[in-house]
Amino acid sequence: MNINRQTHWNHIYATKPVDGVSWYQNQPEKSLQLIHQFKPVEKQPAVIDVGGGASRLVDALWAEGYRSLAVLDIAETALAKSQARLGPASEQIAWLVADVTNAELPDEAYDLWHDRAVFHFLVEPNEQAKYVQLVGKALKPGGVLVMSTFAPDGPEKCSNLPVRRYNCDEVGQVLGTGFKLLLSEREVHQTPFQTQQAFSYCVFQKL
Ligand SMILES: C[S@@+](CC[C@H](N)C(=O)[O-])C[C@H]1O[C@@H](n2cnc3c(N)ncnc32)[C@H](O)[C@@H]1O
Repeated sequence: MNINRQTHWNHIYATKPVDGVSWYQNQPEKSLQLIHQFKPVEKQPAVIDVGGGASRLVDALWAEGYRSLAVLDIAETALAKSQARLGPASEQIAWLVADVTNAELPDEAYDLWHDRAVFHFLVEPNEQAKYVQLVGKALKPGGVLVMSTFAPDGPEKCSNLPVRRYNCDEVGQVLGTGFKLLLSEREVHQTPFQTQQAFSYCVFQKL
């Protein structure tokens, strides 16, 4: 665990309102659209939201009937906000406080891995490689990765931390030959501060 990184994120969620951060979405529409479009055909796919923070994605999936849900984040203060919001339902969701660059996840456990605005914080190749190793291990064969990062014309920093900006081909180059790109899209996110941020939304299949 990178303690400085964890302290940073715990502090953010402990001191700012949920809708007082640039990445806030009242409804994560693009993520939901892509999950609906690409989720495997099983009735109840196992989904993990990596770096889920206090996102309402887990609420939306729970409301839709998904019952195999996990949210991983380095900040327990973020997960506590989601747990409080969800109430009793939160007891049936797996909450994992971990750094994605050294987390331990079960092998081939998930049908769908979602990441909005987390991978792009890994600016060092060795950390990107650890992420790729983990997603490759934890996704089932044929499983789907829905990944969104800042686009090449997106911000150079988020939460005062440097990021790497990507188009989906560039994400694919980091993921390597174990993943096939299925879809590339772009979204301009309106922040709560009336500014705009360009995102790449990329869908991959684990081969
Ligand atoms: C920009 S926020 C996005 C949160 C959420 N995905 C959303 O769309 O609302 C980035 C999130 O990644 C988490 N995070 C940052 N680095 C991480 C790491 N190395 N491992 C796990 N989570 C991390 C932060 O705590 C934060 O919740």
